[in-house]
Amino acid sequence: MIKINDRIRNIIARDKKVMFTTSREHFPFVVDHASGDFAYDVAGNRFIDFSSFIGVYTLGDNANEEIRQAVKGQVDKLMHPAFLDFFSETPVRFAEKLVTMFPKGFGRVFFSNSGAESIEDAIKLTRIFTRRPYLLSFYNSFHGRTLGALGLTASKAIQRKYIGPGPNVIHAPYPYPYRCPFNTSSEDECADACIDFVESNIFAKETSPDEIAAIFMEPVQGEGGYIVPPKRFVQKLRKLASDNGILLVDDEIQAGYMRTGKFLALDNFGVEADIYTMSKALGAGVPIGATVARRALGDSKPGEHAGTFGGNLLAIAAAEASLDYVKRNMKSLQGAVRTKGEFVMDRLHEMMSDYDIIGDVRGIGLMIGMELVRDRRSKVPAVAERAKIVDECFRNGLLLLPAGISTIRIIPPITMEMDNIEKGMDVLENAIKKSDKKR
Ligand SMILES: Cc1ncc(COP(=O)(O)O)c(C=O)c1O
Repeated sequence: MIKINDRIRNIIARDKKVMFTTSREHFPFVVDHASGDFAYDVAGNRFIDFSSFIGVYTLGDNANEEIRQAVKGQVDKLMHPAFLDFFSETPVRFAEKLVTMFPKGFGRVFFSNSGAESIEDAIKLTRIFTRRPYLLSFYNSFHGRTLGALGLTASKAIQRKYIGPGPNVIHAPYPYPYRCPFNTSSEDECADACIDFVESNIFAKETSPDEIAAIFMEPVQGEGGYIVPPKRFVQKLRKLASDNGILLVDDEIQAGYMRTGKFLALDNFGVEADIYTMSKALGAGVPIGATVARRALGDSKPGEHAGTFGGNLLAIAAAEASLDYVKRNMKSLQGAVRTKGEFVMDRLHEMMSDYDIIGDVRGIGLMIGMELVRDRRSKVPAVAERAKIVDECFRNGLLLLPAGISTIRIIPPITMEMDNIEKGMDVLENAIKKSDKKR
């Protein structure tokens, strides 16, 4: 059991006075440092981190030594290259390496400082390339909170409250197999119904497809509830976009960078996008966003698009060291994601047969969600129970984050030792046992 001391209470009280409220409401975790598989708070409590610090430390602290060294080396040289106006080899070299991780023909990169910014860049670029005004995205999607990205986001109404709809954005149903918006009885039927809705309603009655610049999608929806779409849906969506000259933008910010066992989560579905966005794990802890486009789409013109800090040398140093690590260890990282992902999934399926509160478990690789329900027939979301479980885990040294209405995400660093993953799952099971009605 962890101990909450006066230092923790004091920092949180000061935070509440001086900081705007965000989503730091789940539990009183006041971070101090991380080492190996563990995160430590300012009271010396030790935690197993099943959140990878919100999907950023995907490589964990284990790979971090060389990333830290690369950043330290760059600090003494130069931190900011004014890459907006000046040239610099370091970001160019990293971009050259980065594009090798994308499908053939991907060759143009725009660097920014966050996930939302990389989405903003994609919004502008798709409009510049197609000269079309509209964008289409999906319910339950999360693409960030800056105004353009927020316009695409449709995960929770609170995130958009008082802001209004995004300009020229249409939202379509996303196939959520556990709760298909069309109440179909199979994943494939759900996929077909969602595609049919776009064609028969949006294209036919609302917005002509030749006015739509891009479709934005997450290959696995993250914040919206760890929802894995059927392969058939993604493949049909790709075809729908191509048939209508619409660009497909794949938001890899949470699902990408090895989380599913592949560098690009979209590769799990056997299709390619036209533009990819990446952030979070890309900088291994230093802020960076990247928007990567198919070379054939062309280029922006001088003055059309730029930003002061994109290509910041500290971020590039971290991202390059991290990518070098991934490239060097690709096979073992893929094997680790497979083995650890299967272990977590098997364990969750076993738990499901013991605890009715678990309605659904789903995921790819080590991007796993567990949806909690009051009862399996009605599927009423177990919202309060989820809060209790996340809190109980925290009190027992396990960091977890929620997603969607009543889902818990299980996203440990992919380098986490199996022993510690097992210990984390034990803590989770104990917490679930306490909340399950049957017990
Ligand atoms: C899929 C996805 N897109 C975009 C974003 C926004 O990224 P950022 O918070 O860096 O702006 C997030 C953040 O959680 C995300 O998960």
